[in-house]
Amino acid sequence: MSIIYTPEKKLFTLHTAGSTWQMKVGRYGHLLHAYYGKKVEDMDLSCLIREMNRGFCGVPYEAGEERGYSLDTLPQEYPAFGVGDYRTACLHAVHEDGSQAAELRYVSHRIYDGRYQLPGLPSVRASRTETQTLEILLRDKSSELEVVLYYGVLEQADVITRACRIQNRGKTPIRLLRALSCCVDLPDGNMDLITFHGRHAMERNVQRTRIPHGRLSAGSTRGTSSHQSNPFVILCDPDAGEDWGNCCGMTFVYSGNFLAEAETDQTDQTRIVMGIHPDGFCWTLEEGDTFVTPEVILTFRPDGLGPLSRTLHDLYREHLIPRRFLEKRRPILLNNWEVTEFDFTEEKLLSLAESAAGLGMELFVMDDGWFGERNHDKSGLGDWTANRAKLPSGLRGFSEKLRNLSMKFGIWIEPEMVNEDSALFRAHPDWCLQVPGRSPNLERCQLVLDLSRQNVRDYLFDCISKVLDESQASYVKWDMNRNLSDVWSAALPASRQGEVSHRYVLGLYELMERLTGTYPDILWEGCSGGGGRFDAGILCYMPQIWCSDNTDAVERTRIQYGTSFGYPICAVGAHVSAGINQQTGRQVPLETRAEVAMAGTFGYEMDVQRLDASEQEQVRRQIQNYIRFEHIIRLGDYYRLTSPDTDETLAAWQFVAKDRTESLVSIVALHPKANPPFRRIRLKGLEEHAVYRIDGEDQVWKGSALMYAGLPVPPLWGDYQSCHFYIRRL
Ligand code: GLA
Repeated sequence: MSIIYTPEKKLFTLHTAGSTWQMKVGRYGHLLHAYYGKKVEDMDLSCLIREMNRGFCGVPYEAGEERGYSLDTLPQEYPAFGVGDYRTACLHAVHEDGSQAAELRYVSHRIYDGRYQLPGLPSVRASRTETQTLEILLRDKSSELEVVLYYGVLEQADVITRACRIQNRGKTPIRLLRALSCCVDLPDGNMDLITFHGRHAMERNVQRTRIPHGRLSAGSTRGTSSHQSNPFVILCDPDAGEDWGNCCGMTFVYSGNFLAEAETDQTDQTRIVMGIHPDGFCWTLEEGDTFVTPEVILTFRPDGLGPLSRTLHDLYREHLIPRRFLEKRRPILLNNWEVTEFDFTEEKLLSLAESAAGLGMELFVMDDGWFGERNHDKSGLGDWTANRAKLPSGLRGFSEKLRNLSMKFGIWIEPEMVNEDSALFRAHPDWCLQVPGRSPNLERCQLVLDLSRQNVRDYLFDCISKVLDESQASYVKWDMNRNLSDVWSAALPASRQGEVSHRYVLGLYELMERLTGTYPDILWEGCSGGGGRFDAGILCYMPQIWCSDNTDAVERTRIQYGTSFGYPICAVGAHVSAGINQQTGRQVPLETRAEVAMAGTFGYEMDVQRLDASEQEQVRRQIQNYIRFEHIIRLGDYYRLTSPDTDETLAAWQFVAKDRTESLVSIVALHPKANPPFRRIRLKGLEEHAVYRIDGEDQVWKGSALMYAGLPVPPLWGDYQSCHFYIRRL
């Protein structure tokens, strides 16, 4: 049993393979948090919920003289605003009389096998035997507002998931100004929060901050999960590192506005909450209405950030990313974006594709520019029919010609967007998000379609289906090239405008569900100007996401390093691009560009017709290598061997097959030095007593030698050289 209720103590205990979560109904009915951490056997830990009169900390009315029973200091499962807990809250409700208070108390609970349902939202998948659910019903003491807390325990996967359903059982409306998904209250202070910040073309930089007194938040109000901040954070001990220390990952399964907010409170306890960002959010619950929050995945590891990442990677592969993609190798593709941008003809693309096929590539992706009047980024979005000037034989004819070259066909779309200069906008100017009487903020000359509207979604479903039927595409890159602003929907009354951002995301999920469900054999890749929507929500529909518009291999080592903390390598879209990089002008050897792209889905985005004979040979070899190793990359364990924050000279990472019989180690020189110190790299994840051989070498190694003594790094002379070692157990 992974969920245990002890009635005499009103104690709930949740066990995963390696962690325990415990909570207790307090003597006045509040749901108090007792413990989250390394697995503890059969023990009532509610002694950790301590009471002390702290002064200036009020108590619930009935507690009277029990001045230590203060919601201001007690650890809670789902804190609400307005009744004496001044820390960051999960719930902020406004009643019809204008009062802003909710004091949630335990009513009942239910434990069952299988998963709770979150209608319209993506979430972790698991069979009835893999998971149990605990539902706890809380009710506001003085109104008919109810909250059902969901706890999903995936014992073997070693995670707990949380979400909740907020319901109005009364007759008068309730407005929700904040409806977050979860709270973790820990008794210790002095903890670190690791967040992943960035910008376009430089996503998921790792930032580690001591959680201060006062609030520390990461979040997005951009309508998407964003380049600037990622909906994944890690709470950890100040001394936690790759292979040691307590850490707790929190992943938000959502692609829109989010908030992860932590604080150290007045008595040095730590609180962290996660959910939809309250800025601009206002959701009205009429009589009988419910609001369901997105899911948070909680992962606890007592042994460091590396194990935390690997637990998450496994979870994504087993329980989040559609399974049908995990079992297959992804095709090696050529994408034309960095080669041609908008300037291409069918002839040009076919000759590129022919050269690519000759090198061993399997899929040709026609990126932006194939439709409507799309000759630059100022027009055409919304008009999803082939531009006959560029594609005289249309999508059907073009893809047939590709197939005759033994190439599969992939296509780029950006369904959520419209240019003012498009037939779609001229026909339906009210279909986009904008505020009447205001000129909307423009990004890349485009506006966002109002996906909260069913008719807009139906239109998009029909025209994208037509594109897919006609083109017989086997891969689709779903892009999204701006943030939301001027969020206002012509289809909703004034009182409901605070719901639009979330309704947009629900609409997006519905459209993704319909399209990916109707075309399950298509390989879908998410994208938002690179990694602007790299999140667990998208990965529930699409197995991979274009990681960044920055294809500079050296910069990518940092971006992919940061991404690997929360996301599996099989989800990371990575391509080999031109010798002089388009984003930075840096020159990186072809071998190194491929080495870095191998830590992802692997493809090319360069003019393969300009390769000389020896480069062509290199590319052929790279493709063969990738095909040889990709099962370890897609299915194996990933180890970060260096950190860009502490190592300016090398970047190294390692894949190890689950049965530890094979491993691939990649090393990239970031900064060649004169008269350099000798370096060795200590490998990880091998079997200590097993004997391994490095491909191409006669010497054999014990696993322990590779892991504890380390592998000597060969001299890497010149800019950004790289090498890899393929290691096999004998
Ligand atoms: C975004 C994507 C790129 C490319 C362009 C096309 O920036 O991330 O890969 O598809 O759009 O406009």
